[in-house]
Amino acid sequence: MEAFAIEGGKPLSGTLRIHGAKNAALPILAATVLAEGQFEIHDVPHLKDIEVMLKILSEIGAKVSHKEHCVSIDTSQIHETHVPDELMGQMRSSIFLMGPLLARFGEVTISRPGGCAIGERRIDLHLSGLTALGAEYVDAEGYITFRSKSLLGNKIFLTFPSVGATENLMMAAVLAEGTTSICNAAREPEIVDLQNFLNAMGAKVRGAGTDTIVIEGVPKLASVSYRVIPDRIVTGTHLLAVGIAKGHIELHNTVPDHVTALIEMIRGSGVEIKVRHDIMEIKNTSRPHPINRIMTSPYPGFPTDLQAQMMAYLSLANGTSLMKETVFEGRFKHVTELERMGASIYVDLGTAFIRGVDKFYGASVEASDLRAGAALVLAGLAAQGTTCVQQIHHIDRGYERIERQLQQLGASISRINI
Ligand code: UD1
Repeated sequence: MEAFAIEGGKPLSGTLRIHGAKNAALPILAATVLAEGQFEIHDVPHLKDIEVMLKILSEIGAKVSHKEHCVSIDTSQIHETHVPDELMGQMRSSIFLMGPLLARFGEVTISRPGGCAIGERRIDLHLSGLTALGAEYVDAEGYITFRSKSLLGNKIFLTFPSVGATENLMMAAVLAEGTTSICNAAREPEIVDLQNFLNAMGAKVRGAGTDTIVIEGVPKLASVSYRVIPDRIVTGTHLLAVGIAKGHIELHNTVPDHVTALIEMIRGSGVEIKVRHDIMEIKNTSRPHPINRIMTSPYPGFPTDLQAQMMAYLSLANGTSLMKETVFEGRFKHVTELERMGASIYVDLGTAFIRGVDKFYGASVEASDLRAGAALVLAGLAAQGTTCVQQIHHIDRGYERIERQLQQLGASISRINI
């Protein structure tokens, strides 16, 4: 089994290019199913979740290769509309295939995605949205099968601005007859990226980035070349890494506007951040000030995907901070692991009270999910002594070789076999 061994206490320095966004690449790869032809998708990171998506595409008949950071996909021979069960079970994002397969072939079968470490993760909005577009489904014996002769545009209201449901419905509606509007849509930058990709294919989508997305259906789409946006969660993780470990770094290939909420908060707690085009210069020499009140919320609010890393950072503040998780109810599994390293955190009813401590101590800890794992790596960078982070396959789902990224910034971290 692989783990990370981290010798804490080294300030970070140097330059790092941020890789493409996993959460933008996944729906875009699924959307290639919508047209027959040869696609080239650039800046796709080498991550476990991307591998699973490419494997699914290949098992349903696409020809796929992932060289350097470019994915080539030929979707002309896709013939299968049943997403393989085993792969469906490995990654919740395989649900993104539902909209595109239904739109192109009039049918799709998936096995019901199971629970997950960070919360219940329901799919009711995906199901009711596709039903509103005229498809019918059967949910029996662990499988969901949708069928529709032709999808029809409609007005859909999401009771919560779900990122995945917004994307799935956009992908289904592009080939529907007539106009679809998705109200209370999620506004994440990855949704804007999906709109740009679909429009490059010939779709007519507008409004992504606002809470109403309007899609005029077209009869056919075409294959294209496209580059995905930089990963804002990886960017945010490195901003917090400097906040925790101190030092002075430059991040290239960033979109600073995508991390506004984080920038404003950590500037207020003492980290210096300068922005020049797509370059961010980050400097920190002191212990953070606490942040009185943070609440995770859909974009442009503070992202739930940075909550764990922020908690590691605030654990070292010179005072008490308060953080409420409102997106995923179970997303506090990192608390006990941070406590093993010396943090002092009390959780009640979805709110964490974080009393800052002077230092972390190296310990053996386990990643329970992707971002919780990243938080433990950050804590290890600041800890006195050696930290061993186990279950790092979770971290590999969202960060391309995080140890190399941090080594490039001067950290003492290595991947070891235990
Ligand atoms: C996406 C991101 C994930 C991020 C999350 C929230 C991808 C691949 N993943 O996940 O990294 O943490 O957004 O920013 O982009 N919900 C329902 N019914 C549904 C769908 C969702 O009740 O049909 C609820 C979920 O249980 C959860 C909340 O909505 O409490 C947010 O989920 P959603 O926005 O759908 O997240 P994902 O798309 O799964």
